[in-house]
Amino acid sequence: MIIAIDGPAGAGKGTLARRLAEAMGYAYLDTGSIYRAVGARLLDAGAAANDRQAALNAARNLDPADLERSDLRREAVSEAASEVAVQPDVRQALLEFQRRFTASPPGGKTGAVLDGRDVGTVVCPHADAKLFLTATPEARAERRHKELQESGVESIYARVLEDIKARDERDSRRTAAPLRPAEDAVTLDTTALNADEVFAQALRIIAEKT
Ligand code: C5P
Repeated sequence: MIIAIDGPAGAGKGTLARRLAEAMGYAYLDTGSIYRAVGARLLDAGAAANDRQAALNAARNLDPADLERSDLRREAVSEAASEVAVQPDVRQALLEFQRRFTASPPGGKTGAVLDGRDVGTVVCPHADAKLFLTATPEARAERRHKELQESGVESIYARVLEDIKARDERDSRRTAAPLRPAEDAVTLDTTALNADEVFAQALRIIAEKT
């Protein structure tokens, strides 16, 4: 059983995906964290985010331990992640990582929940249920801003909003696996919903699909 959750930054994908995975006893993969891990490796090495060879090396040698790095949510890493994500060969290397995860979810689990930008369209086109979460850029920036502040990272709302808009633009316009809902995805606008309401609606949608 595979559940795909896509959408732009701050739409509530991570919170929902983690909760679904826990409720259903499935493995969880935050696919954004693998792009972030590659971006973080480039920053470590002092390489430019558009250095294709360095990005490809980092993607091919992705260390699962890097997905747990505590600095992955920093704005500089978000930016680098979305820059490496436009490179088709980087996406291909990371696709293989994601396919291995879904083919045999860790811990012998019988299902997996993945969240990202292209899970329903590219990574798992045959997912059992696909959700596309959206919300206004302002609502998403507000959430991301709070999240950063709560984790002790200094954050300025206007900057977060600007960054979210820039990433939306880059993620939607790129030619390799752009951000868009799969044809068979159910879109859920979370602007006016809290986490419990999103979870309840998602459970209902998944029950209808499976
Ligand atoms: O979801 P998150 O904000 O952590 O993702 C960071 C960046 O990684 C996104 O802005 C996007 O460019 C890229 N990404 C992607 N495909 C995915 C997940 C993330 O291109 N499936």
